[in-house]
Amino acid sequence: MTMGEVSGAGFTLGTAFRPGTVAEDAVHAMVSVLDAQDAAPSIERLRGWALSAGAVRLGETCVDLGSGTGTMTRRLARLVGPDGRVVGIEPNGMLRTVAAERAARAGTAIELCQGLATEIPMPDESVDVVWCERVLQHVPDPRAALVEIARVLRPGGRALLLDSDHASRVDSDIDPAVAAAMLDSFMGQLANPLSARQLPRLAIEAGLEVDPDIGSSALVYPQEVLVGSELTRLAADQAVSEGRITREQADEAMRSQSAAARSGWAFSAITVFGFVCRKP
Ligand SMILES: C[S@@+](CC[C@H](N)C(=O)[O-])C[C@H]1O[C@@H](n2cnc3c(N)ncnc32)[C@H](O)[C@@H]1O
Repeated sequence: MTMGEVSGAGFTLGTAFRPGTVAEDAVHAMVSVLDAQDAAPSIERLRGWALSAGAVRLGETCVDLGSGTGTMTRRLARLVGPDGRVVGIEPNGMLRTVAAERAARAGTAIELCQGLATEIPMPDESVDVVWCERVLQHVPDPRAALVEIARVLRPGGRALLLDSDHASRVDSDIDPAVAAAMLDSFMGQLANPLSARQLPRLAIEAGLEVDPDIGSSALVYPQEVLVGSELTRLAADQAVSEGRITREQADEAMRSQSAAARSGWAFSAITVFGFVCRKP
């Protein structure tokens, strides 16, 4: 399965990453989407920038909040070395299992535990770095999450927050009015679709300082994903079911995007922003 292929009756990408999702096909689809995003050069550029700006050091204690398949949990573990500690906190037990298997295969020592962004199972002022990537878009109360992140950070600790702002989406070859209706439907399913733009304010209100240099990178979907894209189909079907577009408009959106992708010029992207927040 690739970034564009998802399966399962009733599955929607907008709702899949909620903590209660346990259906095997939905979890399988989440892992596929995360693996494809891991492979995107644009995501790697933003991760590299955030790790460098946040200066994760040997011996530090890190939390990977909403750790998913554990890609960054393992990477943080390599950065802090054997004298450091990395805890992946992830509400979804099946994703924790995937992360544990991958860490074991890689021979990387990480800890994984159940928790929520709003209930981090760590003592006050015990953490040097909180990494939280593309998680707060799924959290209904991001303000509570920022307060919780600030609670667990030591003075001098850093929160490295990477998150999407779905209103920044670009779809080159779908009629703009239809694309806007599909995006409205998709954003209606997400707990916090405009997450990124709120993060500086929420971080400052939680007592953190935010570096003025904000990172950004467009997560660009590869052409092959846009030919008959199941993600586009899901968004279009959702918009039809909500009466925002007609079935004919949905079919035309699929057709025009697929044709552009076959020609090599389809462009579909969303901006992910990175914030370095410091506890004074
Ligand atoms: C798009 S994935 C990102 C995973 C990982 N951070 C990455 O960048 O590869 C979103 C993750 O957030 C988790 N999640 C959803 N709601 C959460 C919450 N309230 N608290 C913590 N994690 C949550 C999901 O289970 C999923 O692992």
